[in-house]
Amino acid sequence: MIFYISIASLVFLFLYYRLLYSRFDKYGVKYHKPLPLVGNFGQVIIQRKFFGDALSDVYYGFPGQRFVGYYEFVSPVILIKDIELMKKIAIQDFESFLDHRVYISDEIDQLFGRTLFILRGNDWKNMRAKLSPAFTSAKMKQMLPFMVEIGKQLTSSLVQKIGQSKTDSLDIDIKDLSNRFANDIGAFCAFGLKVDSISEPDNKFFKMGFKASNFSSWDLLKFFGYYSVPYLMKLFKISFLTTDTKDFFVNLVLNTMKDREIHNTIRPDLMHLLMEARTGRLSDDDEVDKDQKSSFTATEEKNVKKNEQRAWTDYDLIAQALLFIIASYETISTTLSFLFYELAVNPNIQERLKRCVCGHQL
Ligand code: HEM
Repeated sequence: MIFYISIASLVFLFLYYRLLYSRFDKYGVKYHKPLPLVGNFGQVIIQRKFFGDALSDVYYGFPGQRFVGYYEFVSPVILIKDIELMKKIAIQDFESFLDHRVYISDEIDQLFGRTLFILRGNDWKNMRAKLSPAFTSAKMKQMLPFMVEIGKQLTSSLVQKIGQSKTDSLDIDIKDLSNRFANDIGAFCAFGLKVDSISEPDNKFFKMGFKASNFSSWDLLKFFGYYSVPYLMKLFKISFLTTDTKDFFVNLVLNTMKDREIHNTIRPDLMHLLMEARTGRLSDDDEVDKDQKSSFTATEEKNVKKNEQRAWTDYDLIAQALLFIIASYETISTTLSFLFYELAVNPNIQERLKRCVCGHQL
């Protein structure tokens, strides 16, 4: 009896996976054969392959195609290669492609579920329209002095370390250095916190920022779970952020807000912009920025006017502050690492940059 049940289960599973993985065949979309359950990204899940390399394999696997397919677990994904098709999706027909793929209900993650990255439909449009004026080039420029200050802090920490070394030189893990620099910039530009994670390697902000922004295999698995089997994730109440990360950022933002309200502090940083956005006082009043508005932003604004604006809760504001830390941390540090690498292998460019920064003529 057990034998027959096992054979029947195997046949059922075989037919089920054949059905699941036959969706591209139906529409003639090219794709690499997936493995059961893990799809085309099994090696990424077990961290044997970098996500970008796995995507490159898909991208370059079928030359001449305008789009190709792959499976993330059991979910079919279309990778667009043709620029005109991209414009159609991201501009002309954007209304039909509004939502991000990952959806985390705020019932299971009260914080991450309210970030711009996860919100959908009208909720996303409203949040995005309120936040867009915070990201005009004029407002970004106001944060430049903060970045310069952290740059000077980095330089003096490194000079000090070199001075302390016996060889007058330092071996540096450049990705770690970039992580710390990105972290210190994030802390200062977002919350006005002066963190020196190069001199104090174990400071709390760095540890929590690192934890929130560096996705482990378990985090990746959760991400795939949210869009492959969202009902199971909801059933088991699997939150993306851990309680200590949430508590840390909730306390940080609430205390910063309280402190600013009590002392009436105005500092042109992310906290200030978010507090202004919450009250609806933020506008992109800068002429240069108006000229630079993309058709995407224009479409987005046109759409949002039709929608009801919803008042922000504390969690809405905290969620966006946290998202900016997560979204900026790895992106900045990876870009910097590549920049440092290119400067190292191109000493002539490094020399030009040095002359430029020191105020000499190029
Ligand atoms: C090299 C640098 C960066 C790259 C390549 C990059 C790339 C991207 C991409 C591709 C998306 C769209 C993701 C999607 O729709 O599924 C995105 C969204 C986003 N990024 Fe970045 N990013 C960078 C830096 C940053 C920085 C520095 C910040 C914040 C300070 C940031 C904040 C965001 C936010 C808030 C979103 C969500 C926007 C929305 O859904 O409306 N990013 N980024």
